[in-house]
Amino acid sequence: MKQARILHIHDLIHHETDIQVAATALRNNQTVIIPTETVYGLAANAFSEEAVQSIFVAKGRPQDNPLIVHIANLDMLETVVQGPISNDAQRLMQVFWPGPLTLVLPKSNQLAPSVSAGLNTVGVRMPDHPITLKIISAAGIPVAAPSANLSGRISPTQAQHIIEDMKSRVDVIVSSDQSRVGLESTVLDMSQKPYTILRPGAITKEDLETVVSDIHYSESDASSPKPKSPGVKYGHYQPKANMMLVQGEYAAVKEKIHELAHQAQHKHLKVLIICAEEHSVDYPSFPTKSLGPIGQSALMAANLFNVLYQCDQDQVDVILCEAFEEKGIGIALMNRLKKACGQHIIHV
Ligand code: TXA
Ligand code: MG
Repeated sequence: MKQARILHIHDLIHHETDIQVAATALRNNQTVIIPTETVYGLAANAFSEEAVQSIFVAKGRPQDNPLIVHIANLDMLETVVQGPISNDAQRLMQVFWPGPLTLVLPKSNQLAPSVSAGLNTVGVRMPDHPITLKIISAAGIPVAAPSANLSGRISPTQAQHIIEDMKSRVDVIVSSDQSRVGLESTVLDMSQKPYTILRPGAITKEDLETVVSDIHYSESDASSPKPKSPGVKYGHYQPKANMMLVQGEYAAVKEKIHELAHQAQHKHLKVLIICAEEHSVDYPSFPTKSLGPIGQSALMAANLFNVLYQCDQDQVDVILCEAFEEKGIGIALMNRLKKACGQHIIHV
């Protein structure tokens, strides 16, 4: 059993030694949990098969689910991606990197085979987090890093979400601030045209289309049982509670949530309602957690995983959640909510 070294790093000035400790651990093929702007990641040397295997072991992750490779600068790209980078890919990198966009491109032979789980492509991104950029550049190697949760559990947006679960499973945990974006990166498959969004995130289809044309996204692809992005087929982001999403006109949603909440209470189950801030007052007899004001999808997205984590901490049995508008980042927010409830959606 491992015993992780926990490093608290909140700025670049006072923590040079700790940054070197994390970088050295990565170079020595150890596992290091790193903060990013999206969610915390569980990182290891992307060139070493042994190091990458230890990520799968630590997470309990299925081997057919490929990992995203994180780089600190464009010089690292040629060790990750095979052949020339297309003009479209270069333009997207210029506009959105560092940032929450993963590009799926042809894979370099230098990478450990299991990074890509047998595919001939690799997902690569440059995270927008100064501490992690510094750690990766000090390590001098690209790192493979899935979200730092145990497989199937909620993605962590704060180190405290995973310290309990992971402290005996990884070598180093870098604890920093709360992840700013709060949802995993947008994954764009550029290995063929039309380019396809495999996982929606904070960078939306409309954002991408300001730079390149002909981007495809289908909600059903992102949750189909035989998807192109293997990760989307697994039960993801699931809180321990039985969670239901209620979708429709607000008056009907409110009525249905009341009905289901009363039913749950009748069975002596601990119920919690997740809703927009303005709607908390509509459920005076039940505990609620707000994700943020109506229409503020980015804020709601940033709060989502923390709210689900709190539900686990509070040992909630039943979560009743309002559905939100599927526009802009709202598409990614709803994608995660649908997975969190295991597609248990009640249309009213
Ligand atoms: O924001 C993020 O992307 C976070 C942080 C840590 O960077 N990472 C993350 O990794 O969410 P993970 O492993 O939890 O999700 C990776 C997703 C999965 O859905 C996986 O199937 C997909 O990206 N993916 C990775 N490589 C791929 C490839 N070559 N082809 C298709 N999908 C790929
Ligand atoms: Mg994940």
